[in-house]
Amino acid sequence: MTTVFEQRKQSLLASPATWLVTGCAGFIGSNLLEQLLKLNQKVVGLDNFATGHQRNLDEVKNLVTAEQWQNFRFIEADIRDYSSCEQAVQGVDYVLHQAALGSVPRSINDPVSTNATNISGFLNMLQAARQASVTGFVYAASSSTYGDHPALPKVEANIGNPLSPYAVTKYVNELYADVFSRCYGFNAIGLRYFNVFGPRQDPNGAYAAVIPKWTAAMISGQPVLINGDGETSRDFCFVANAVQANILAATTALEKAEVFNVAVGDRTTLNDLFNAIRDTLANNGSSYQLAPVYQGFRAGDVRHSQADVSKAKTILGFEPSHTIWQGLDVAMPWYLAQ
Ligand SMILES: NC(=O)c1ccc[n+]([C@@H]2O[C@H](COP(=O)([O-])OP(=O)(O)OC[C@H]3O[C@@H](n4cnc5c(N)ncnc54)[C@H](O)[C@@H]3O)[C@@H](O)[C@H]2O)c1
Repeated sequence: MTTVFEQRKQSLLASPATWLVTGCAGFIGSNLLEQLLKLNQKVVGLDNFATGHQRNLDEVKNLVTAEQWQNFRFIEADIRDYSSCEQAVQGVDYVLHQAALGSVPRSINDPVSTNATNISGFLNMLQAARQASVTGFVYAASSSTYGDHPALPKVEANIGNPLSPYAVTKYVNELYADVFSRCYGFNAIGLRYFNVFGPRQDPNGAYAAVIPKWTAAMISGQPVLINGDGETSRDFCFVANAVQANILAATTALEKAEVFNVAVGDRTTLNDLFNAIRDTLANNGSSYQLAPVYQGFRAGDVRHSQADVSKAKTILGFEPSHTIWQGLDVAMPWYLAQ
């Protein structure tokens, strides 16, 4: 049976649109860029390289045809600058707003910078997109918005108190989206990503995410550090699922601002993740013999996370294409090549 995503891709191929991807030099943004260019879409990309890299853009260039690459226009700019946002949205049909400072620990160390980009920068993009009357605006929300709410799986309507400055900023995005819908009838769609992973996710630096960090450690024979007892759990989401959700959300007309969980609906503990990465590495001819090293729990971390993705399935036609295992199989050759 043809999925809604397949149908939507065929429509886009038949009549290409113009997209703005903010944060296009980052992990998720560069994966969006790759998929859109492969669908022969026109793409404007905006990034200030705060955490993104030119090498991600170069890699996408190598994965698409020369003709498709011609459809890409890059603006090196900062979303904290309103005029750059205005310039970027000119002539754009759909905005996929990914630019932000990610990482819970980064926000605890530097809440002011996180606030400036994730709240003021977000508001700049939202307002510029509304002024330009774009057809669709999708933004990267976060599962961190569930905060201390204990229920599992997480359902969009039931959130708790934020546990970090980062979570505050992502929740404020949702509040602004809601208010823009009420005040101006501008309906932005938030995608609450749950631990996205895949090619081009940065393994380096103090704020690296767990999968690239552990994979890089195992490849280079370094110890893997587990925060807490290893029974902390997450709904790890391969990036192709997040890309699908963005394209579906942008091209679905909704009556008001909405948020959707974007994940698989599974729950994997850190101990199981350790084994999964080690086993996937072994399947790719690289063995890792060390046991994990346990250290203290990390401040601001949610203990368990698992999404109920039925809202995205029902309203957007979202069908996750990859489980964590399938995602690791696709991502591992990329990590090994780095
Ligand atoms: N990766 C995840 O698991 C996850 C989970 C929940 C939410 N998110 C959100 O998804 C989005 C993308 O995350 P990612 O994992 O690709 O991170 P990333 O750091 O790889 O990408 C973010 C990009 O935004 C750019 N950027 C940052 N500040 C900017 C500014 N002021 N102006 C212009 N560009 C700026 C960075 O240079 C980078 O290229 C972010 O909004 C993040 O908060 C990610």
